[in-house]
Amino acid sequence: MQVWREMEREGMEELVFCYDPSSGLKAIIAIHNTALGPALGGCRCWTYVSEEEAIRDAVKLAKGMTYKNAMAGLPYGGGKAVIWDVAGACEQMKAASGMDERGDGVMAGTAMDDLGDAMLAGSKMREQTEETKANTRTDSQSSDTAQARIVMNVQGDAMLAASTLDVRALRFRALGRCLERLNGRFVTGLDLGTTASDMDQIRVETTYVTDTTGSLGAKDDFTADMTAYGVYIGIVTSLRHQGVAALQGNPVAVQGLGKVGYALCRYLHAAGARLIVADVVPERVQRALVQFSGAISADPARIHAADCRVFAPCALGGVITPATAEELRCSIVAGAANNQLHGGQLVARRMQARGILYAPDYVLNAGGIISTACELQGAGPDLIRQKVAGIAGTLSQVYTEAVRSGISTLEAADRLAEAILRTGRAE
Ligand code: NAI
Repeated sequence: MQVWREMEREGMEELVFCYDPSSGLKAIIAIHNTALGPALGGCRCWTYVSEEEAIRDAVKLAKGMTYKNAMAGLPYGGGKAVIWDVAGACEQMKAASGMDERGDGVMAGTAMDDLGDAMLAGSKMREQTEETKANTRTDSQSSDTAQARIVMNVQGDAMLAASTLDVRALRFRALGRCLERLNGRFVTGLDLGTTASDMDQIRVETTYVTDTTGSLGAKDDFTADMTAYGVYIGIVTSLRHQGVAALQGNPVAVQGLGKVGYALCRYLHAAGARLIVADVVPERVQRALVQFSGAISADPARIHAADCRVFAPCALGGVITPATAEELRCSIVAGAANNQLHGGQLVARRMQARGILYAPDYVLNAGGIISTACELQGAGPDLIRQKVAGIAGTLSQVYTEAVRSGISTLEAADRLAEAILRTGRAE
């Protein structure tokens, strides 16, 4: 991989490679852009199949945070920390605590960023990892060796205990020291595969961390609720853009009834929308059908083609492909999932040509990061909610720019974000 070429292509400012031999930490801190302020983005712990994969993920995620933070009007740039879980500490944590939940000692959801895309990529990576383990004895041996080496180091130091969880704590402390050396250029928090306890370990070494135990960001229902609230506000704004004054009676199809999707259903139901719901976990669907009167269920694989006013993808990334874009029967696509378009501008333009209004995901799902940024600046829940409601104004600007310039809403959002970055100031 040509790292500098990748940095040039993506406009990266800095890539920091962190290695701590005593804990086995291998991490990348990707700082994409600090024109608006220190980079802000989550810390992901994941089992990448290669260094290249980890670098690419860090770069892509950091860039995404730049655009999301800029459009949210936050005084922060974009960055991401990625811990390469070579020896399987994250995997073991996942197995021990359950992947879906978040909070103290429990796996994080996605306070700062995109689970959807990662779920796709992650399951692929896991498959590949299993395949690699099965097919290449040498790789599997060297991974075992890495684990053994860490345990040996751990045993060699009186301060360290020999359990994997302690190794994990040491890795996060080591990352904390790396952050401290960056002197505030990057502030991190929860993301896929990390917990509030991990953030507590980072906090031992540095103040450039959020989502620690007791913070609003570590309370999953708050962050997810703010994300859902932003999506709800965006749906209302999108309807108004199409001349529809109220949600009342309009069918909205919600794909994914997890933390954000379920909270979104609550807002939509309270506003009188007719819900069509889908999830791959049948219990979640049942719960929604019981709680939201009038709701009906749909096949999770076909819900994008439901006859509805709004389709809200709140599960995985990449659900709108060139093929599924042709099957949409909604007039608005507006959901929480990150990287919804598999095919970028091409798919965005196709939706535009079909008269379907697309609310760019990174504009719409910024409620979580707005919440994090506001909390960093000392705001409480009420002020945070007010700030999240500002997504309405931002989205309207995107729609106005798209109409004015005859471009897709995704192009309009990118253009506006880049203008904010050029002028170096948040709104
Ligand atoms: P979650 O893990 O709580 O929920 C995801 C739900 O989608 C689960 O109920 C899962 O069973 C379901 N699902 C998975 N595959 C599906 C499929 N093929 N069809 C239908 N349902 C399926 O995740 P969360 O936190 O609710 O996030 C949802 C989306 O929003 C993700 O893409 C995430 O990246 C994005 N997001 C979340 C933020 C947050 O604050 N939690 C912030 C910004 C973006």
